[in-house]
Amino acid sequence: MSEFILVLDEGTTSTRAMLFGLDGSFHGSAQQDITQHYPRAGWVEHDADEIWFRTLDCARQAIEKAGGADRIACIGITNQRETVVAWDKQSGNPLCRAIVWQDRRTADFCESLRSAGHEAEVQRQTGLLLDPYFSGTKMRWMLDNFEAVRAARDAGSLAFGTIESWLMFKLTGGAHLTDASNASRTLLMGLGDEGFEPRLCELFGVPTAALGEVVDNAGPFGETDAALFGQAIPITGLAGDQQSATIGQACLEPGETKATYGTGAFVLTNMGGDIPVSDHRLLGTVLYQFGGKRTYALEGSVFVAGSLVQWLRDSLGIVDVAAQTEELARSIEDTGGVTIVPALAGLGAPHWRAEARGVITGLSFHSGKAEVARAALEAMAHQTFDLAEAFAADGASWGKLKIDGGMSANDWMAQDLADFLDLTVERPEFVETTALGAAMLAAVGAGLYEDLPTAAKQMRGTLSRFSPHMEDGVRAERLARWRKALAAA
Ligand code: G3P
Repeated sequence: MSEFILVLDEGTTSTRAMLFGLDGSFHGSAQQDITQHYPRAGWVEHDADEIWFRTLDCARQAIEKAGGADRIACIGITNQRETVVAWDKQSGNPLCRAIVWQDRRTADFCESLRSAGHEAEVQRQTGLLLDPYFSGTKMRWMLDNFEAVRAARDAGSLAFGTIESWLMFKLTGGAHLTDASNASRTLLMGLGDEGFEPRLCELFGVPTAALGEVVDNAGPFGETDAALFGQAIPITGLAGDQQSATIGQACLEPGETKATYGTGAFVLTNMGGDIPVSDHRLLGTVLYQFGGKRTYALEGSVFVAGSLVQWLRDSLGIVDVAAQTEELARSIEDTGGVTIVPALAGLGAPHWRAEARGVITGLSFHSGKAEVARAALEAMAHQTFDLAEAFAADGASWGKLKIDGGMSANDWMAQDLADFLDLTVERPEFVETTALGAAMLAAVGAGLYEDLPTAAKQMRGTLSRFSPHMEDGVRAERLARWRKALAAA
């Protein structure tokens, strides 16, 4: 009997294959790191073949753990968004390294489009801004810089896709499609359009023929090539990781909001069926699409969250393991004025300052590891506060905040978020909601549950709650320091 859902969770730093029971219970995973290539300052690349082979290896390990492919009811895929792969549809081989979402190399191209006055119209159509973060300008860069990409275009065999699209192609042996949540991050699809929009493709210089078909987030999308796992397995769920986490957090009603603290921090509020328009530098995005009908979200994307703690660990050696930041933060009353602006990859929402760089302010001889570690954690609340203000100004105030992601396991940070935002913060016991969301989508796509609310009811576990208690004066003092430091970033 098929009793498991296999989720392929393609993060920025690792690929994982995770096994879920049909009731949402977690039954183990296999994980491998993805090599990060930094050929120049501001450039970030992945090897698409490495992603595929490591994913395949993890999937095989998980399937073995499950007792064989016949025990897997369906597969859900969730992925780091915006990262672009260019491959040849004939050979099935990548044509160059994948350009990762964090990569800033197309900043000048974005600036030239902005100077030519295109941003307002692009934002109106796509919900996005002219920033190197999104896929469209990365595709154009590949065409401009790699002869192999141009030759494949001329031969009619060029395929561009985000990571779910690449994996679908490899798993099925040839399908070229992308789901609406990932497609909505490319700058090439209007939020209200069915598929990629030729005029947008022309503006960014991307041939429509190289883009896959835009499909729903749940449904029968194809089967894995039988040779890969011993027998074919249906693939029935696809979603960008932040949309998937929003689903995994059951933010299924307008106004419900989640914040995922992974490599970056991504806050999404469900906006229902109306196309969101932000006047405060937030993004409009597709949350999910079923039967061609879309539900939208407003998104605030912060580029640095858990990666700041990683940097404290790997580059500064302030902690040996990320969890030590909690102990250090608790060991002192306050940071003694130390404030960190984690603009290590520029600033995302709501500031969008690609040129900004990180700063640590307020250092004195009194400052030590604990002060710096605590300031790093406080920066999460500060960045989220800026988003909360922008969401409220766009008419989407948060009633409470549902948090998840690896860094949310830090109880001190969860409490600080509740205190600083003056909101109830909820955290599921099982914080891997990105993978759970993909499992829910796959379950609905396979017909195991009739809709997402039913899947959420059956598959989600218990929660912890953090209630706010912070004096207004403390918040005001921290906010003033944060604002001053931001100006210096
Ligand atoms: O938009 C980028 C986002 O999808 C990356 O997610 O989980 O790798 O931090 P993550």
